[in-house]
Amino acid sequence: MVVLVSGGMGYIGSHTTVELLNQGYEVIIVDDLSNSKDVVLDKIEIITGKLPKFYKMNILNEEDLETVFKENKIDAVIHFAAFKAVGESVSMPIEYYHNNLTTTLVMLKLMKKYSVKNFVFSSSATVYGEAKTMPVEEEAPLSTTNPYGATKLMIEDILRDVYKANKDMNIAILRYFNPVGAHKSGTIGENPSGIPNNLMPYITKVAIGELKVLSVFGNDYNTVDGTGVRDYIHVVDLAKGHIKALEKLSTNSGLVTYNLGTGNGYSVLELVKAFSKASGREISYKIVDRRPGDVGTCYADPKKANNELGWIAEKSIEEICEDSWRWQSNNPKGYN
Ligand code: NAD
Ligand code: WQD
Repeated sequence: MVVLVSGGMGYIGSHTTVELLNQGYEVIIVDDLSNSKDVVLDKIEIITGKLPKFYKMNILNEEDLETVFKENKIDAVIHFAAFKAVGESVSMPIEYYHNNLTTTLVMLKLMKKYSVKNFVFSSSATVYGEAKTMPVEEEAPLSTTNPYGATKLMIEDILRDVYKANKDMNIAILRYFNPVGAHKSGTIGENPSGIPNNLMPYITKVAIGELKVLSVFGNDYNTVDGTGVRDYIHVVDLAKGHIKALEKLSTNSGLVTYNLGTGNGYSVLELVKAFSKASGREISYKIVDRRPGDVGTCYADPKKANNELGWIAEKSIEEICEDSWRWQSNNPKGYN
């Protein structure tokens, strides 16, 4: 089976490519390297012994992308390519709406033209906005608080309309919680450019000495220790969820939507503690004001994916921290 992986050089895409290759899928990556490095391809080959076909191109360019559909017989698309920084999306809404919506529309248009029926989409827990009940089920009301989240919700709506009009399509909307960790080999991992926005890469950069102190955004939430609680899922567990989703689509599932999370919430300070233990490094932190737009608690109800996909997040918070640390300590400057 041939899978076109858009954004396959990025954090989640590279880990998913590794799992796909290990499972015997043929992978074609399309990525413009706007948020990734070409060396990732070599790393994927080092881990799997296989070199996926790679097209360096911007998916916004329909003519370019069409060459990929012309030159290959594609069975399924996993669409990771997007801009993903929440804060940046607030200051650059046009770029975010344009990139995230248009890449998806171009991809769907070419899939239609070339009769490719299976589509997996990277959505996010951000579509739950400020969920009222925890854990969050797929049926919870949807809303967003920033342009990035709005692109995810709009694309979900587009996909629901596309499915209504094309019932022979199979579409999996996967809502990721907080992806963290790295491949066990320490060969690939998260490689944020500049100062990280997300908690785990910030912690690893404090541990390696690149950043001095972690700012903990608020300790007055209604949580175990007052700091924000999230559902941290190992990126390899997440990657495996995509393979289960492809298997589901191959049964002519129609449109399906799944939370990919562990079902467990950890506070910022609990994660800091687990990471210190795994790495043997002290993580200096200071409590600062809440970050605007943050919710206190968010964790998944993953039962639907557990039952219908036969998928479960297996890796513990200890393993997540060990793997994050191995990646960061083996690669102090990431891919640079
Ligand atoms: P990433 O930035 O590491 O990977 C995205 C890849 O897409 C990058 O390699 C980038 O170069 C590429 N890309 C972006 N725009 C492109 C374009 N127009 N043409 C070609 N390539 C393009 O991000 P990630 O963390 O791997 O996230 C993958 C997907 O998962 C994204 O859709 C993201 O919104 C979604 N997601 C991520 C998280 C998270 O916390 N990392 C959580 C929920 C959902
Ligand atoms: C986790 C916790 C922070 C940084 C974001 C996006 C979401 C999804 C995943 C893409 C929170 C606290 C963080 C720091 C801190 N991405 N924190 N100091 O906000 O749950 O989700 O990434 O779809 O859409 O919104 O993840 O890692 O930024 O924060 O105290 O320097 O860590 O307040 O409680 P978040 P995060």
